[in-house]
Amino acid sequence: MEQIRIGKTNVVTTKLGLGTNKVGGHNLFDHLVDDDGIKVVQAALDSGITLLDTAFVYGLGQSEKLIGQVLRDYDRSKITIATKAAHDPQNNLQLNNHPAFLTQAVDEALQRLQTDYLDIFYIHFPDETTPKAEAVGALQKLKEAGKIRAIGISNFNLDQVKEANIDGYVDVVEDAYSLVERQAETTLFPYLAANDISFVPYFPLASGLLTGKYTATQEFTAADWQFNRPNFQNPRYQQILAAVDQVKPIAGKYEATVSQILLAWYLHNPAVTAVIPGARVATQVLSNAKSASLHLTTTEYQLIDQLFKF
Ligand SMILES: NC(=O)c1ccc[n+]([C@@H]2O[C@H](COP(=O)([O-])OP(=O)(O)OC[C@H]3O[C@@H](n4cnc5c(N)ncnc54)[C@H](OP(=O)(O)O)[C@@H]3O)[C@@H](O)[C@H]2O)c1
Repeated sequence: MEQIRIGKTNVVTTKLGLGTNKVGGHNLFDHLVDDDGIKVVQAALDSGITLLDTAFVYGLGQSEKLIGQVLRDYDRSKITIATKAAHDPQNNLQLNNHPAFLTQAVDEALQRLQTDYLDIFYIHFPDETTPKAEAVGALQKLKEAGKIRAIGISNFNLDQVKEANIDGYVDVVEDAYSLVERQAETTLFPYLAANDISFVPYFPLASGLLTGKYTATQEFTAADWQFNRPNFQNPRYQQILAAVDQVKPIAGKYEATVSQILLAWYLHNPAVTAVIPGARVATQVLSNAKSASLHLTTTEYQLIDQLFKF
């Protein structure tokens, strides 16, 4: 699998990673089964994926614990663990970027993951009070102490990224980006490229909408998570499904699924350092892993790029 480097660090990992918010993320999603989550992580590692993206808030430590459990059977040195914190469990999950909080959050994540270093640690969300450079300065100390290998920030807008990176310590930014959520192309991308900062998008499959499994006549009730999401409201929903439909001939050519083709599009995209599709069950991971061996032509890459510009 294609390998990438995070920022200017020596963290090298696969460009295709695994998102694990459905591994133990019971507080965020209904009907999750821990054993399925364990199998999701195992399927990723067994497929050659080495980048695992987790966070404290996925199950309030449960995702990290399940990953730690799985890692006992694998060679830790070959795996890239990225985790995040900012939600303060002592204060109603309010956001906290205070240096003391981040330092303790890293120590607690290490325990749950049963490891003595994190390859990437992200401040999950900015808080409203801590100066950004002070928060990142705390991570720089943890990096110098060998507890983390790369410094990440997530959900920071461009001005916040600039403020956080005033001393040049930021290695990687994680933010929402997909074929249907493209603001980062004009906001973050130029600054990140100019400063050698990696970019890891979340929601690459638009939470499943880009997999080809939704239909134009599907209706959502108030009990469904899709009910209030902008991408699931007409006419936008129909526009997205029409674009997904036009990916099907390319998928046919490669005997692939729409998700595999669209994941291959991110893997081809030079602004995307690593892509971390989430999965609920192992079969999804096994399917998504096949995207790593698909190579789109430049014409196909550009066609897909244009299909989703609306
Ligand atoms: N930094 C942040 O603030 C932040 C925020 C959100 C997410 N993240 C990270 O980014 C990762 C990716 O985001 P995401 O998982 O929310 O969204 P996503 O990758 O856009 O969508 C993943 C979802 O699509 C469905 N799916 C995946 N592969 C499929 C396949 N082959 N066939 C059919 N359905 C498939 C699964 O949901 P169903 O089966 O339930 O439909 C899966 O959970 C997360 O796991 C997490 O690690 C970070």
